[in-house]
Amino acid sequence: MTTTTAAIVETGGALFTLTDVDLDEPRPNEAIVRIIAAGVCHTDLGVASGALPFPLPGVLGHEGAGIIERVGSAITSVAPGDHVLLSFTSCGQCGNCRDGHPAYCATWLPLNLIGGVRADGSHTITRGGNPVGGHFFGQSSFSHHALVDERSMIKVDPDVPLATVAPLGCGVQTGAGAVWNVLRPRPGAGIVVLGAGAVGLSAVMAAGLSPTTTIIAVDKVAERLELARELGATHVIDATDTDVVAAVAEITGGAGADGVVETTGSTAVLRTGADALAPRGTLVIVGAPAFGSEVALDVNAMIPGRKVVGLTLGDSETQTVIPALVALVRSGRLPVDKLITRYAFEDIGQAVQDMTSGKTIKPVLTL
Ligand SMILES: NC(=O)c1ccc[n+]([C@@H]2O[C@H](COP(=O)([O-])OP(=O)(O)OC[C@H]3O[C@@H](n4cnc5c(N)ncnc54)[C@H](O)[C@@H]3O)[C@@H](O)[C@H]2O)c1
Ligand SMILES: [Zn+2]
Ligand SMILES: [Zn+2]
Repeated sequence: MTTTTAAIVETGGALFTLTDVDLDEPRPNEAIVRIIAAGVCHTDLGVASGALPFPLPGVLGHEGAGIIERVGSAITSVAPGDHVLLSFTSCGQCGNCRDGHPAYCATWLPLNLIGGVRADGSHTITRGGNPVGGHFFGQSSFSHHALVDERSMIKVDPDVPLATVAPLGCGVQTGAGAVWNVLRPRPGAGIVVLGAGAVGLSAVMAAGLSPTTTIIAVDKVAERLELARELGATHVIDATDTDVVAAVAEITGGAGADGVVETTGSTAVLRTGADALAPRGTLVIVGAPAFGSEVALDVNAMIPGRKVVGLTLGDSETQTVIPALVALVRSGRLPVDKLITRYAFEDIGQAVQDMTSGKTIKPVLTL
């Protein structure tokens, strides 16, 4: 067993508190990783609030980055001392995994988001001999050490700054994948990004690396819209006092949007996104409202080839997409640092508070 200090959530709605926990011995396909940095995502806060059926007390965190200390007997792709970025896990065996779409793995929900245990039901983390929820995205990285699935690890060069690239594992990969993997914009396309938070601004940056010529960012916070412009938005719309559908129509010469990325998690905004689509346009649902949320669509408006599609983690094949994102960060073409505010791990409470108030876009905890 490895004893380490983790940020634990005791019960739905409780704050993160630091506590000593024990990690299980690595199975053949697992490793012990010393965590150097971990991004905080809204999904961590959703689970901590008790809105999802993840077993609490539990250890969250799914944008970890660190250095491998020990590997299980079957691991050949990485070795102790290697630097790794952590992302979601998958089974590697089901149809979607074999097809290169591990974010749609048949076991995605229990293995990553709500199970809290390994696929065989065994616990990865205990405290005083009692099991706690772990295996979050195959990592539970709000911890000095984490027990990590091989399929959650992507090796990076030792000189890659881990505190800069940690958010690639979820938020950045999700926003970028919405544009690169789903919208795949044709030259001259116009894209609307609803919500200029961590995911939306990542979509804006990714659109800037594509042949889109019109990138419209929508938010209610002026500073976020300013940052969106800095990161590549050609137009911004403040939804506080503007009719978004009319504004998109005006900017696109009446055509509407070829692609919309919805990241606010609001069903009303989602509907607005559908109404802003051009014929054959695609709306990508990324923001996650409460379980059970529904939205109405104008059915006849959909008939001219308009599409609405959901998205998990950018539909990324992580071993391909993450190294590409890392390379773009290193060459300065994907300036993720502009979204990041760093906090010491002990200040996780402050990080969460600043994220909730909107002061910080992407907190990264450093250990
Ligand atoms: N599908 C996935 O795989 C996946 C992955 C990561 C995150 N998410 C989800 O994506 C969402 C976005 O995450 P984030 O980290 O970017 O959150 P965020 O809070 O940083 O960004 C949301 C933005 O939307 C803006 N907003 C809220 N209401 C608005 C409105 N009515 N009109 C215009 N703008 C509005 C906010 O000001 C904020 O800037 C969350 O719901 C998160 O849970 C989904
Ligand atoms: Zn996330
Ligand atoms: Zn699978």
